[in-house]
Amino acid sequence: MVNVLDNQKKNASVALPPVIPQHIGIIMDGNGRWAKARGLPRTQGHHRGKENLRQILESCVEFGVKVLTIYAFSTENWERPVGEVRVLMSILNLVLDQEVKRLHKNGVQVRHIGSMDGVDPRLQKKIMDACEHTRDNDRLVLNVAFNYGGRGEIVHAVRNIMRDGVAPEDVTEEMIGRYLYTGGQPDPDLIIRTGGEFRLSNFLLWQGSYAEYYSTPTFWPDFDKSALLEALWEFNRRRRRFGMIDEQIDGHQTGN
Ligand code: IPE
Ligand code: IPE
Ligand code: MG
Repeated sequence: MVNVLDNQKKNASVALPPVIPQHIGIIMDGNGRWAKARGLPRTQGHHRGKENLRQILESCVEFGVKVLTIYAFSTENWERPVGEVRVLMSILNLVLDQEVKRLHKNGVQVRHIGSMDGVDPRLQKKIMDACEHTRDNDRLVLNVAFNYGGRGEIVHAVRNIMRDGVAPEDVTEEMIGRYLYTGGQPDPDLIIRTGGEFRLSNFLLWQGSYAEYYSTPTFWPDFDKSALLEALWEFNRRRRRFGMIDEQIDGHQTGN
């Protein structure tokens, strides 16, 4: 098995690995450093990051990924200089203006995960309209993690569980999962972080409990289709044990 994968990897720029994750999460990091390395303002990096999204999204549709979650703005990102926050907001605005038609044509269902607290009401409406417009699409679900934080998401879920009057003994892991923004979706199999850091930065804390993590030094604006394929090949080399031992997995191995 390992040899087959190694051989196939030689063609990584063209070939698809055998197992495609159902759900991929991407921490799109490194825009600022990408710009700095070129003597450009950080905001230019964000604009290039926006441009890069299209090819990654289209590749995911092409590869048969069912859910893609992109980390666009964390609840902690409000701490950045106001000017940068403004640019990040305007970029989401632009994406919604420019891309929703194409996303819809590609069968993409747009969903927002995160909070609307502090978000300009006009942007809130645009986000809700995009979700509404694409709600019946089922080729790929695109979760836009915008004004998102994993801890805040769990707090939000717990509050709603309490509001619904659920008795403590009835609270289960499955129930908490259902009350999260991603309720009803499969957990991420693979979480990619560009920009070289090895941390979660509050991304999909609950859902990522058994995700395979992949960090690449490549900055987000440079993370192209072949870089995505490389991550998928690495995912195929991982052995997901879910707490078991190899012999048990070999008994009901499905390919990865
Ligand atoms: C990721 O790039 C974009 C957002 C966090 C919104 P950064 O802006 O964090 O870029 P670096 O990490 O400073 O290079
Ligand atoms: C994570 O990147 C958030 C997004 C990509 C939207 P950050 O750049 O905010 O993460 P830290 O601050 O380096 O942990
Ligand atoms: Mg960063």
